[in-house]
This record gives sequence, structure tokens and C-alpha cells, in this order.
Amino acid sequence: MARQKFLLGAKAASKDEFYTQLADIERELRYYRKHFKDKTVFCNCDDPFESNFFKYFVLNFNKLGLKKLICTCYTGSPIANSQLSLFDVVDTEDGNKPYKAIITTVYDKTGDGALDMEDIKELFKSGENKLTELEGNGDFASPECLKLMDESDIVVTNPPFSLFRKYVATLMKHKKQFLIIGNINAITYKEIFPLIMNDEIWLGNGMGRWISGFIVPASYELYGTEASINEKGERIVATNNCLWLTNLDFNKRHEEMILAKRYNSEDYPKYDNYDAIEVSKTADIPCDFKGAMGVPITFLGKYSPDQFEIIGADYSLAGPININGKNKPNPQRFYINGVRKYARIVIRNKHPEPAKEH
Ligand SMILES: C[S@@+](CC[C@H](N)C(=O)[O-])C[C@H]1O[C@@H](n2cnc3c(N)ncnc32)[C@H](O)[C@@H]1O
Repeated sequence: MARQKFLLGAKAASKDEFYTQLADIERELRYYRKHFKDKTVFCNCDDPFESNFFKYFVLNFNKLGLKKLICTCYTGSPIANSQLSLFDVVDTEDGNKPYKAIITTVYDKTGDGALDMEDIKELFKSGENKLTELEGNGDFASPECLKLMDESDIVVTNPPFSLFRKYVATLMKHKKQFLIIGNINAITYKEIFPLIMNDEIWLGNGMGRWISGFIVPASYELYGTEASINEKGERIVATNNCLWLTNLDFNKRHEEMILAKRYNSEDYPKYDNYDAIEVSKTADIPCDFKGAMGVPITFLGKYSPDQFEIIGADYSLAGPININGKNKPNPQRFYINGVRKYARIVIRNKHPEPAKEH
């Protein structure tokens, strides 16, 4: 009880407690199986007793051929887990201390013919896997968590949204392979977009509704028409604005879009303040245009580096413009006939079809 009270107090100020559902993890992770063989996976924003990332990797440990799974939590969480609790496993007076789980073996310890979280608990109790308290607060950027990061091959989690820039910078600095959940808006962050442009990181298989929703604590408002409470009593918020971000390659990333439209100057006007044409829908990219094209940011969900080159984004490319006598030296957006367009990424087709002779 004391633990629960502490946690609610500690978390009330931030809105980072959006827990990923197992079905959403499974939907994306099945595309990367080959990457995990003999690898050490680190989930560094994950309470082993609550995180479905932990659950996914621990229950698929043998199927994926993992070498090791490391999981660290920041503090406890306001979502109580019905499967296991820290007190069932380790002898501790202070249930608020963050801890780390290190898994190196997974088998049917209870001998009941099935592999489930009860086996994981028994494997902790027997000392075959290790569950120990961290020295610090479990911050992913703390020295002890960075050391664990350096020992790992692939980091997989849904990190705190409020620290997303810092989180990705840490992964890049430590040259980690990763698969993480982020918000669609993160694409346009000045710290993130250049990494996408240079093909150092890319979007996973799906965005938006591909991630069906997050489990939120009781203290969070259940907003939106699609909010629900599932059969386990978990409160789900359907966000429709998230995506997976990774630097692990997967097949779909090399599938080229079929382009049915052809260029004509009426349907594809040029911007006032940048030398590119406006393509307002990704599906309408003309197959025969050689030059620069502005497309919506959702294009990245279909982007194959084999087919297109990313030149930049409007926020850095848009030139100065005068609107109704008012100078805009750094408008950050493209304009057509004085009308501001939505956020755009600028691309070029690497092998356009020849333009039709008229
Ligand atoms: C979006 S939630 C996702 C939790 C879990 N990874 C999942 O997918 O279900 C982000 C988690 O990161 C934790 N967190 C916040 N700040 C952190 C930090 N500096 N270092 C590590 N974890 C942090 C939050 O407490 C929260 O549980």
C-alpha cells in the first residue's frame, strides 16, 4: 500500500506512463526475428513485473535464440501487475527501489508443461536468473544503466515521450541497434529528422493505428472516443499518432511503392519559396518526375531508400517569402500562391520513368 502511494505521488507530474500492449509488440517484432539470434537485448525503461516488452522477450527467449535479456526500471509504476510482484521474488524492505533483471536461461521450471511468468518467478527465486536492486534511480542515462547498454546489442522499448530526443541521442552515441516507440511528431524534430534523412534510422513497419493503444494508470484521463477498458481491467487509450523507430533492417523497407500517376504542371504546382513540386498525397507521387518533390511526413511510412532519396525538410529548406507585404525571412513552411502548406519532406525519385512524349 505504501509503495502504491509513493508511486502515484512520484508520477503525478509526468505523463510518461503509457504502457505498451503485448499484441502491439508482437505485431511489430515478428519482422525482426533474424536480428535477435545470440544477442543481448536491453529494455531500459521497463519494470520487469509490468512491461510487456519484458514479457515478450522472456517468453520468446528460446524461440528468438537470445543470449541475454536485461531489463531495468526507473522507479516502480502505478500500474500494479497481477502476474508477479517484486515482493514475491526478492527479499526487500523497500519495494520502491528500482531494480534490474538479468535473464540467461528460460525453461519450464515448474514442470507444468507450459512456459509462463510463474516459471520466470521460480527462475529468479532459484538464482538461475538474477533480480537485483540498482544503485541509482534507474535513469537510462545513469552510469550503471549506460554500462548495461554497452553490454547489450539491441535496445527495445517504449521510452518516456518527454525525454525522446535525449533517449535517441543516447542510443546513437552508444552506437546501439534499437527498436523503439515514438510519437509521429518526433519525425520532424531537428535532432531526429537528419538521422532519418541520412538513413541512419528509419520507421518500422507501421504507424498510427498499427499501434492500437496504450495501457494507462488509473490517474490518467481515459480520453478519446476509442478509449476502453479491456477484459483484464486495463485502461486503454488509443492514440493513433505513434510509430516504431529503428535501425534494424527489415524486408518491407526495400519494397518499392507502385507509382501510377504521371507528372503534369497543373496537378503538381511548384512552391513559391523552394524549387520543388507539391505532392499532397504520398499515393500521388508521379512516376516520371526527376526533380525535388514535397510530400507529407507520412510518406516515411512507405519510404524505401532503394526508390527515393530524402533531400530535406521544409523547416530548413523553405526560402524567405513576402506575404501581403510582410516579409517572412524564415517561414519554415512551403507556400503556393501565398498559401502555407502543411509540413513537408522533400524527396527525389532515384530512378524515375522517362517522361511521356507529347
Ligand atoms: C511510455 S512508458 C513505457 C513503459 C514501458 N517501456 C512500456 O512500453 O510499457 C515510459 C517509461 O519510462 C519510465 N521513465 C521515465 N523517465 C525515465 C528515465 N529517465 N529513465 C528510464 N526510464 C524512465 C517511465 O516511468 C515509464 O514507465
